[in-house]
Amino acid sequence: MEIINRFFNICYLRLLFLRLFIYMQLLIKNIKGLIVADNRKASKVSGKGMALLNKISDAYVYIENGLISDFGTMSNMPLKLAQFRFTGNEIIDASGKFVFPSFCDPHTHLVFAGSREQEFADRIKGLSYEEIARRGGGILNSAKKLHETTEEELYNQSVKRVYEIIGMGTGAVEIKSGYGLNVNDELKMLRVIRRIKESTPIEVRSTFLGAHAIPEEFRNDREKYIGSVINEMIPVVASEELADFIDVFCDTGFFTVDETERILMAGIKYGLVPRLHANELGNSGGVQVGIKYNAMSVDHLECAGDAEIVALLDSDTMPTLLPGSALFLGLPDPPARKMIDAGLPVALASDYNPGSSPSGNMKLIMSLGCIKLKMIPEEVINAVTINSANAMGISETHGSIAKGKVANMFITKEIPSYNYFPYAYGSNLIDTIILKGQLIL
Ligand code: NIG
Ligand code: FE
Repeated sequence: MEIINRFFNICYLRLLFLRLFIYMQLLIKNIKGLIVADNRKASKVSGKGMALLNKISDAYVYIENGLISDFGTMSNMPLKLAQFRFTGNEIIDASGKFVFPSFCDPHTHLVFAGSREQEFADRIKGLSYEEIARRGGGILNSAKKLHETTEEELYNQSVKRVYEIIGMGTGAVEIKSGYGLNVNDELKMLRVIRRIKESTPIEVRSTFLGAHAIPEEFRNDREKYIGSVINEMIPVVASEELADFIDVFCDTGFFTVDETERILMAGIKYGLVPRLHANELGNSGGVQVGIKYNAMSVDHLECAGDAEIVALLDSDTMPTLLPGSALFLGLPDPPARKMIDAGLPVALASDYNPGSSPSGNMKLIMSLGCIKLKMIPEEVINAVTINSANAMGISETHGSIAKGKVANMFITKEIPSYNYFPYAYGSNLIDTIILKGQLIL
């Protein structure tokens, strides 16, 4: 606890410091390996392309006014950069270290109240996730806690998680509502997400997930709740511009394909872009309905089979896998290898939430991608950077080291190779964090 408190204090102090002293230029030189350096600005990599990692050895990156201005090999570094040294500039020597683009985490529920470790213990004793949900635990348990928490307190709890993931290398995050389950509490969550967007250096995209579960009081009239999502919540969320995306938990025991379709259509009418929770607990038809409505991503996919892979091959929808929740709930692993071998792109996300994945550690997600999903290190690096930027619609500006992109990156500690990064799955290997061109830690 002491260490965590000290970490947050350092973050806050550093941010305070930044307000007084902002670097206009930043040069990182002698980088052992600059990873996902791609001036072709590919918006995603698929199939065999996922095993190819764009990288430069003995490299530099030059950052100006928050953007990546130049990069290349040290032997080609322009003389003016080698010579520049005046107030307001910062030079970092990254000898022995690697520079990665910051992680993009395209699926989280990190705005929540309290925690659910009792359910964790109950599952160890034998109850299933669905059984706990049927007894009014799970998402409904978080909804109850959130209802009893003020907006200010919800912000305070959630912003700590944001600084926690910033400290673990994440530079862009998608955050969902879905623990409100009534107009007021869904709006409360979305306003907290907006405040996080305005008050922290991380890039945020926001998703309305009113259709996360049917609340207790509507158990015998689910149609009434779905009507409220469509006719009350979506219009006000859209008119207050509180969300970029609309999501539905389309799965066994939650929302059917038909219901999902109606909710997505209502969202689209109000300018919200679809993304879906699909095929986590059963072969729900979620992948196909997501593709039908041009979803930016379909997420989870533990229960996806050959038909889903074929359907995805014919679409622009990004399959986003969440190995943290599969691990935590003891679900079968999603078929990442089959997908990539069939030619699909794959993105990875943390699913940071209190019930199925109480961690936003994207470095651990990389390791799980390798260990559990049998992805090679090059594939997981692409899956947590450029492909996950694509899954949240920001690959034009984030997800790789390219001229003109936002300068979001981290410098590792001294490590022998980039394979070491997912290999040392329990070690914190991040030394320095740069977001929007500013030194954060
Ligand atoms: O992505 N699957 C649905 N929603 C979350 C879990 C939410 C919860 O249990 O609180 C997920 O796993
Ligand atoms: Fe989720």
